[in-house]
Amino acid sequence: MVMVSRTGCGAAVFLWILSSISCRAWTASSTSQKCDEQLVSALPHVVFSSSSSMSSSYSPGYAKLNKRGGAGGWSPSDSDHYQWLQVDFGNRKQISAIATQGRYSSSDWVTQYRMLYSDTGRNWKPYHQDGNIWAFPGNINSDGVVRHDLQHPVIARYVRIVPLDWNEEGRIGLRIEVYGCSYWADVINFDGHVVLPYRFKNKKMKTLKDVIALKFKTSESEGVIFHGEGQQGDYITLELKKAKLVLNLNLGSNQFGSIYGHTSVMTGSLLDDHHWHSVIIERHGRNINLTLDRHLQHFRTNGEFDYLDLDYEITFGGLPFSGKPSSNSRKNFKGCMESINYNGNNITDLAKRKKLEPSNVGNLSFSCVEPHTVPVFFNATSYLEVLGRPNQDLFSVSFQFRTWNPNGLLLFSNFADGLGNVEIDLTESKVGVRINITLNKKNQIDISS
Ligand SMILES: *[C@@H]1O[C@H](CO)[C@@H](O)[C@H](O)[C@H]1NC(C)=O
Ligand SMILES: *[C@@H]1O[C@H](CO)[C@@H](O)[C@H](O)[C@H]1NC(C)=O
Ligand SMILES: *[C@@H]1O[C@H](CO)[C@@H](O)[C@H](O)[C@H]1NC(C)=O
Ligand SMILES: *[C@@H]1O[C@H](CO)[C@@H](O)[C@H](O)[C@H]1NC(C)=O
Ligand SMILES: *[C@@H]1O[C@H](CO)[C@@H](O)[C@H](O)[C@H]1NC(C)=O
Repeated sequence: MVMVSRTGCGAAVFLWILSSISCRAWTASSTSQKCDEQLVSALPHVVFSSSSSMSSSYSPGYAKLNKRGGAGGWSPSDSDHYQWLQVDFGNRKQISAIATQGRYSSSDWVTQYRMLYSDTGRNWKPYHQDGNIWAFPGNINSDGVVRHDLQHPVIARYVRIVPLDWNEEGRIGLRIEVYGCSYWADVINFDGHVVLPYRFKNKKMKTLKDVIALKFKTSESEGVIFHGEGQQGDYITLELKKAKLVLNLNLGSNQFGSIYGHTSVMTGSLLDDHHWHSVIIERHGRNINLTLDRHLQHFRTNGEFDYLDLDYEITFGGLPFSGKPSSNSRKNFKGCMESINYNGNNITDLAKRKKLEPSNVGNLSFSCVEPHTVPVFFNATSYLEVLGRPNQDLFSVSFQFRTWNPNGLLLFSNFADGLGNVEIDLTESKVGVRINITLNKKNQIDISS
């Protein structure tokens, strides 16, 4: 039996779409003007890193805006599309703008670049704008400063600049500044077992309006983020299903079936990328605004009722823990949450101050547990060969990948005994699986993905 499976749904193809680069008109960010400190200028050399450096005097620590130290900026050993410059701020920052400059008094500057960001320095997310992975227009000379205000701030500890294009008569050369301010939020790590209840003071909670906000990050595609229910049959559940966000809500049905209140709305995709996603649910009667990562979806609930009647508690990270083996197959949330706010109650803060009692199954902790993944870089000729295990009739593989290239072979394996082979490739940005079975033997091959 052959099984080709892709679990975790983490594959993300970041393609270099030149046609999407139409960014002449930059509008200033309308957000608060206060978050505009220079985050790079005071940093020591050791927090800068890069793909390579031409020599020590071109090292990444010299890549500070308006400075002339070393050779006057960073230049990599080769000017190609595999170079990057990285800064570690030491802790998470809110980033509102970025500025670049070429290497001092040289012909080396970057004319276009991308910005990636990360909490860990391992799992990178490209900055998006207008739905595209954004290419920032860079410099046109070595000493002019070109600054871009981000359309929306990003929160990250690490920033990586990836040059896409540079002066034709020169090399890649960079000096940068990143503008923003400090960011702090208490985080809660859920281990996939623990549930955090917020108990209502008066046992019953009857609300016409609700505002529930939180941020989450996870590598799992399934899990209950929060849940509340009432004995009358009302409920509200926010959960991840197949890495999409699903809000299930019922403000009331009647026994005769003439009023059917169940409402289900799905939004987002690939939310198991272990990057932060923010959710805000605002309800006024049957009108709901569901906002995921700044994308607002408005809908009305089914049925005729306006009040949400919940009993006892609302639980974060899973369904209430009953002590009995659950007939319900819904998985608990495994990952991190922060800034949890339920109708003005600062849940994260209450949990941190031990005012809430987590279930006695599982562990709640106040720092995010990062998944253990090791990235491997492939150039056009390199590959990784993993020895097969003989006498195994199951072949299962899962991986995440990121590339700028629309074509390439991702995986190849021969089956034992000359039975054929399997190939997974990218062709014009689409993943294809090709299985070649030699038909002269009676064998069953099952494929699932
Ligand atoms: C939903 O958003 C719209 C537009 O921003 C606003 O007018 C409306 O009051 C919001 N509704 C709720 C229930 O918050
Ligand atoms: C929640 O409490 C923390 C710690 O006191 C605070 O920093 C944060 O701003 C509060 N969040 C909200 C939304 O009130
Ligand atoms: C919770 O943490 C403790 C100590 O770190 C560990 O011994 C225990 O196995 C953990 N429980 C679960 C359910 O992971
Ligand atoms: C590709 O990577 C391999 C292994 O790291 C290296 O030996 C080879 O020189 C590289 N080829 C190119 C064209 O960069
Ligand atoms: C299919 O696999 C067989 C056995 O490995 C090999 O001889 C044949 O060339 C393959 N055909 C294609 C189209 O790859």
